Amino acid sequence: MEYHLALIGYPIKHSLSPWIHNKFLDKAGLRGSYELHEFDRASSFEENIKLLKRKKYDGFNVTVPYKQEIMPYLDEIDPIADKMGAVNTVVNKHGKWVGYNTDGIGYVRSLEAAYPDVLSNQECQILLIGAGGAARGIYCALRNRGISRIDIANRTQTSASAILDLNGNRGNCAVLSIQEAEKVLKDYDIVIQTTSVGMRPNSKDSIIQVAHIKDKAIFSDIIYQPLKTAFLSQAEAAGAPIHFGHTMLLYQAQYAFEKWTEKRVTLGNMEEELKLLLEGR
Ligand code: ATR
Repeated sequence: MEYHLALIGYPIKHSLSPWIHNKFLDKAGLRGSYELHEFDRASSFEENIKLLKRKKYDGFNVTVPYKQEIMPYLDEIDPIADKMGAVNTVVNKHGKWVGYNTDGIGYVRSLEAAYPDVLSNQECQILLIGAGGAARGIYCALRNRGISRIDIANRTQTSASAILDLNGNRGNCAVLSIQEAEKVLKDYDIVIQTTSVGMRPNSKDSIIQVAHIKDKAIFSDIIYQPLKTAFLSQAEAAGAPIHFGHTMLLYQAQYAFEKWTEKRVTLGNMEEELKLLLEGR
């Protein structure tokens, strides 16, 4: 069969998803296409949904600003996406739209691809910095992997608190201010930066000063523009192994592709290729 895939969102002209999914189609030996369906808030969401229905896509991705707005139009929502309150992948199952969120699992896959044993100790202590949509997905995926100690540091502590309440019981997880987190950074085995602080053009900014850290603690940033953020540079200078944001982009796409085609593609040298592509931008 031929797969007709798409992305909806705004703005998406510079999206890397067509590059990624066309490569995946090739790798999987499938014929198909991945179209951009860009529309801004001025156009009717309902009309665009009708158009998408008519196009009979086999599946599509949803990005900013429509990850929540799409939800009432779905026939079914996967429990993880439901808990996250956001959908980034829709599968057309015999005319029924089923919504998923691949961000959290994609992130965990990317982390384990770089550091295979990283989550084998379920007692490991994780610090999540930020409490937006991405943090929500990563938190759920890590809790689902049995990790019980995930603290969240955020400027707005009520948002961090709301994430801890997603799983019913908070386990041993705590909410911290950014300043508090900075003081106890040495306690953590993995530190994951999910805020937009440090994103181009503000590449010199770092949400936290990385100085006193635990030996072998892994520092991860989901920002991929720039590839090596100020946060990651500081961590590297302090001797930490680091984990790059562009890998999450690839693995969340891998999981979405799997939902559409039931084929798991291996990334091969795509991490390196994407890195070069991003460096050239
Ligand atoms: P996403 O869905 O991509 O995760 P988001 O929902 O906009 O993005 O979340 C952005 C995150 O970056 C939030 O944790 C936000 O902190 P608040 O919850 O306090 O708003 C954080 N953030 C953005 N700009 C920030 C800044 N200048 N200082 C501190 N935190 C910031």
